[in-house]
Amino acid sequence: MRTAVAIAHPNIALVKYWGKRDIPLNLPSVSSVSLTLSGFSTRTEVTWDVASDEVRVGEALAPEGFARRVTRFLDRLDGDRPGVRVATYNDFPTGAGLASSASGFAALALAANAARGATTDPVELSVLARQGSGSACRSLWGGFVAWHRGERDDGLDSHGEPVAPTDHWDLSMVVAVVSEEAKAVGSTEGMERSRLTSPLYETWVEQAEADVEEGIAAIRARDLDRLGRVMEASTYKMHATMHTAHPPLMYWTPGSLACLKTVWALREQGVSAWTTMDAGPQVKVLCRRGAAARVADALRPHCVAVHVLGPGGPARLLEPS
Ligand code: PMV
Repeated sequence: MRTAVAIAHPNIALVKYWGKRDIPLNLPSVSSVSLTLSGFSTRTEVTWDVASDEVRVGEALAPEGFARRVTRFLDRLDGDRPGVRVATYNDFPTGAGLASSASGFAALALAANAARGATTDPVELSVLARQGSGSACRSLWGGFVAWHRGERDDGLDSHGEPVAPTDHWDLSMVVAVVSEEAKAVGSTEGMERSRLTSPLYETWVEQAEADVEEGIAAIRARDLDRLGRVMEASTYKMHATMHTAHPPLMYWTPGSLACLKTVWALREQGVSAWTTMDAGPQVKVLCRRGAAARVADALRPHCVAVHVLGPGGPARLLEPS
């Protein structure tokens, strides 16, 4: 029996991933770029070789669907594995619009592999974490991370890759939580609907690699206006594939729109603040750290909570250290 404990942070895509070329392996049709966030984290403890499987979230036994996702992921690590105990704890509110599956599967991949005495190489862990949740493959690294789509059918070339470290650039990500309701359509279903029915999907895929190159260049040059422009372009092209799907898929609420308009008005006043949204109603705003309080104050009337986060570090082992 061996125990390992790992911690990982969520990430937000600056250039978006939307669409799969292989669903079981979570292989993307497009590359993406993200920022790993500080402040929020998932801590996961894994004990390998116990009598039977047990999955806990916080103090309670995990809901069946989540427990099955975790045990299936463990089966991928070792098809002939013993019983495994997993206890995972998020220190941030679920429904905050920050994919807990990204930090969750990054922490699980690291803790489970350490507990079973296998590799803790981040590239290999990224390939594994991707199979739990696509965006999780970017949470192995801190700071700015690219996920290249890869070409191989087995997905071994589809993993995260560091672009710039946590301390590269003093930015803030202001997260405006406009609704805490669980989303009605999950990301895999939404991606498939866009892929199969949106007339804009092909254009989205065609333009994505150039957006990734532009995003990486802007990060390296620390050019916020340039990064913000490509982030908004990527975000709204991605949402356009949802809005033009059949039936249409719209994660936005009136509150989301109020937040977007607030940020665009701030920009008219000279604040370099840029919006992004994922598969949910929350609005995330990238700005300089010095502007974050002003952005948060402007958003507060339109939402239920505002979180100001910064660049976070890589996934890491707490035990064995
Ligand atoms: O990895 P998933 O299934 O949580 O999908 C993430 C999709 C987006 O959040 C909308 C975009 C992204 O790149 O994270």
